[in-house]
Amino acid sequence: MKWFNHARIETNLILMGVLTLITVSIGGLVQIVPLFTVSTTIERVVGVRPYTPLELMGRNIYVREGCYLCHSQMIRPFRDELERYGHYSLAAESMYDHPFQWGSKRTGPDLARVGGRYSDDWQAAHLRSPRGVVPESIMPPYAFLDRPLDYHDIADHLRTQRAVGVPYSDEMIANARADLEAQAIPDRDAGAFQGRYARARQAAFDGNPAGVTEMDALVAYLQMLGTLVQFRDVTPEQLRQQ
Ligand code: HEC
Repeated sequence: MKWFNHARIETNLILMGVLTLITVSIGGLVQIVPLFTVSTTIERVVGVRPYTPLELMGRNIYVREGCYLCHSQMIRPFRDELERYGHYSLAAESMYDHPFQWGSKRTGPDLARVGGRYSDDWQAAHLRSPRGVVPESIMPPYAFLDRPLDYHDIADHLRTQRAVGVPYSDEMIANARADLEAQAIPDRDAGAFQGRYARARQAAFDGNPAGVTEMDALVAYLQMLGTLVQFRDVTPEQLRQQ
């Protein structure tokens, strides 16, 4: 065909550049534009909820201390991983993580499903002195976490999470401080708190019922990891909700 003069395109750098740009742009649009029409690319899963104020503070400590440098939170769909850690991670399980904690290094084991694997006492004792419970451990000790938790700005933390898409309600933000204390101080009434956060457990996570420490927050966070979705009770179809 005369109009399709390939020799001319190949010998004209500018023409070649313009045509290449047009071709690549079309390819890009075909991939990107359909995504604008879906509200989320993450399939919603029953059980996944925003973190409680105490868990959120624990997560902040996890990030602050760089636990992600030695621990991943992402179980890959391989047989050896499933046998060691449990069900592979679902995208929805980290949908409220900003930033996500998948990690890329496993000096220690994956923590995506560590929740409930050990008692609160074990977790606190292990953080205070890893070699006290696992003699061959190379994990550093975090005994200083027994200091009081600074949570004067907890409502702002929830507001910030809401700004990036975590569905904290006005009620959750208004009660953030009370909810944080209700989870860590066992003699507080936890009824309203547990109504707002399904399956949230009240406990003296650091072993001391008085006051709220950084240890309380971190152990509460660890004990929640991987426990929100109930894989045993439901079929794969029921896991999905529309
Ligand atoms: C220098 C690397 C390193 C850092 C940093 C580190 N860990 Fe570990 N962690 C390990 C190793 C190695 C193990 C396995 C031995 C043991 O249980 O102590 C481990 C084990 C654990 C376990 C037990 C997991 C299981 O399934 O048995 C938990 C929970 C844990 N770490 C939490 C944390 C938290 C929380 C932090 C941050 C405050 C942290 N780790 C920081 C290396 C690290």
